[in-house]
Amino acid sequence: MNEKDTLILAIESSCDETAASVVKNGREVLSNIISSQIELHKLYGGVVPEIASRKHIEKINQVIEEALAVSGKTLSDMDAIAVTYGPGLVGALLVGVAEAKAISYAANLPLVGVHHIEGHISANYIENKDLEPPFICLVVSGGHTHLVRVKDYGEYEILGRTRDDAAGEAFDKVARAIGLGYPGGPKIDKLAKEGNAGAIHFPKAKIEDAPYDFSFSGLKSAVLNYLNGCKMKGEEIVEADVAASFQKAVVDVLVEHAILAVKESGMDKLAIAGGVASNGSLRKAMEEACAENHIKFYRPSPIFCTDNAAMIGAAGYYEYKKGVRSGLDLNAVPNLKLGER
Ligand code: KG4
Ligand code: ZN
Repeated sequence: MNEKDTLILAIESSCDETAASVVKNGREVLSNIISSQIELHKLYGGVVPEIASRKHIEKINQVIEEALAVSGKTLSDMDAIAVTYGPGLVGALLVGVAEAKAISYAANLPLVGVHHIEGHISANYIENKDLEPPFICLVVSGGHTHLVRVKDYGEYEILGRTRDDAAGEAFDKVARAIGLGYPGGPKIDKLAKEGNAGAIHFPKAKIEDAPYDFSFSGLKSAVLNYLNGCKMKGEEIVEADVAASFQKAVVDVLVEHAILAVKESGMDKLAIAGGVASNGSLRKAMEEACAENHIKFYRPSPIFCTDNAAMIGAAGYYEYKKGVRSGLDLNAVPNLKLGER
């Protein structure tokens, strides 16, 4: 261990994953423990906030202890503690924030509140040691769809966002409509491999005068209308074709907007982040489009795309290095905006 190494204990509990991680110098993950509640929420077809909060309380101490044990470090080795304080479910966020404040106080460690989306973006630093800002990042998760210009560490400009549903939300809703259950993204990803993406034409929404904005609610309605139409006419529904055609409509729009943003900003680097960034078809299409346009493409491994605490440790490191410190009055901010404190 180098004298100058910085160790961050990171905590994430904004939705349905209780996670803790130890990260060295922002880019080296010494442990990455994730306790997922998916099996529990599956029973209800989506995340039940009250249940999420209770499960976080049950699991958080165990997850943190494991993260420290796997890293081979103790609390006294840590330089700071980073925690997601927004956006997310307020009751879920509060569990992580309260825990981080308690540890910060008891172990006399500096506390750094981290924005969840900043975490998703920073997941790209973990495996791409050469990646440095500026670059463009497409953040696609269950709650967010943002095209972001990463100007510097911790400095963001939002170029575009969804006007209605997030990309992951559209995956989840369409999956439910074709009977795949929760969470829909990975299930559509899998089923689409057996389907014909050209079988059904679904619309791709464009927003006039806002080339970087997205809209997925029209696409979701088009899928529902198609399914209803088939039922009324007594036509067979080929779920794999619906999944593949819907997925193509989403992926095409994400790729078009992201490539346009990179070109128009004069940059040559594009990263993707968030749960939907683990989608096989999106990763492939984006990689091909980047190669065609001479853009360097970055994406985290799937385990760092969906919610985890290592990404919070990466983001927390750069905030810590900039001198950002949160007080013991840090609160959960469910609708925290990117770039705000
Ligand atoms: O980033 P994340 O774990 O949580 C949020 O911050 O929202 O993203 C979860 C979302 C869910 O909507 C899930 O269906 C979607 O990411 N997702 C996927 C895939 N894996 C997860 N969507 C498409 N394809 C996937 N392979
Ligand atoms: Zn997330």
